[in-house]
Amino acid sequence: SSTATITGTNVQIPRLGFGVWQIAAANCAAACAHALNAGYRHIDTARLYRNEEQVGTAVRESGLSRADVFVTTKQGVRGDTPELTYQLALESVEKAAGTAPGAYVDLFLVHIPDVRGGADGRKEVWLALERLFREGRARAIGVSNYGVQHIEEMKTYASVWPPHVNQIELHPWWQQRELVAYCEEQGIVVQAYSPLATGTKLNDPVVGEMARSLSKSPAQVLIRYGLQRGWVVLPKSENPERIRQNADVFDFELGQDDLRVLDGLDGLDGQY
Ligand code: A2P
Repeated sequence: SSTATITGTNVQIPRLGFGVWQIAAANCAAACAHALNAGYRHIDTARLYRNEEQVGTAVRESGLSRADVFVTTKQGVRGDTPELTYQLALESVEKAAGTAPGAYVDLFLVHIPDVRGGADGRKEVWLALERLFREGRARAIGVSNYGVQHIEEMKTYASVWPPHVNQIELHPWWQQRELVAYCEEQGIVVQAYSPLATGTKLNDPVVGEMARSLSKSPAQVLIRYGLQRGWVVLPKSENPERIRQNADVFDFELGQDDLRVLDGLDGLDGQY
């Protein structure tokens, strides 16, 4: 299926999302428009990316109904007080989803564990997200770049546990298997950012050979790998042709042998 259900909610999350990390604000609305035209129904932004507003604009101007597009944002900073931390999060909702009363994001994540103040900071941002969740301004809430210990620590302060999602860097060269297995056991949806290894491995000979034999591109093979591993996959591109190509991954499958070969690449690049 092209969507997964977020455990503990009745929210459906499209398994393929459009990542807008490193897309400059000036290009972001156009890139999102291309993505929505190409069939993406899920866009992943963050306060830190400085393009939440452009995502919101593109969704509103797409002509699609708001309910048909899944929008994620993230926050990794605190304000000077818990109330101001909540206000920052609300600001993100209004940028990414508009200022109409009741406007909502589908998913809001704590962006990083190293929030100022350590455990206190993580707790403060999380409690702000729980408040947005209770108020219906975020349909699901989760974390990003969290390890097992950070998620376990949440038990000491969270009313919503486990977090609905953990978004982490994942691709064949960086599979984080223990963390992924933990998330799966807990029912936490795993999202893969940088599924193309930020573009650094698209000339890999093993992937290239596989792509040729399937008449697909290396990027499509890597996206398919993530989907077949059960991850929600978030490739980034700002090129209309590559945006389309990256969404054209539902008409083929990697076989067990291909999956095993890609599994075997874990840790083989010293950079990861
Ligand atoms: P561009 O935006 O110019 O298309 P990741 O999603 O792992 O972070 O990778 C993003 C990088 O991969 C970007 O540099 C992006 O460049 C490049 N990229 C995305 N899709 C493709 C593709 N289909 N073919 C080649 N490069 C791609």
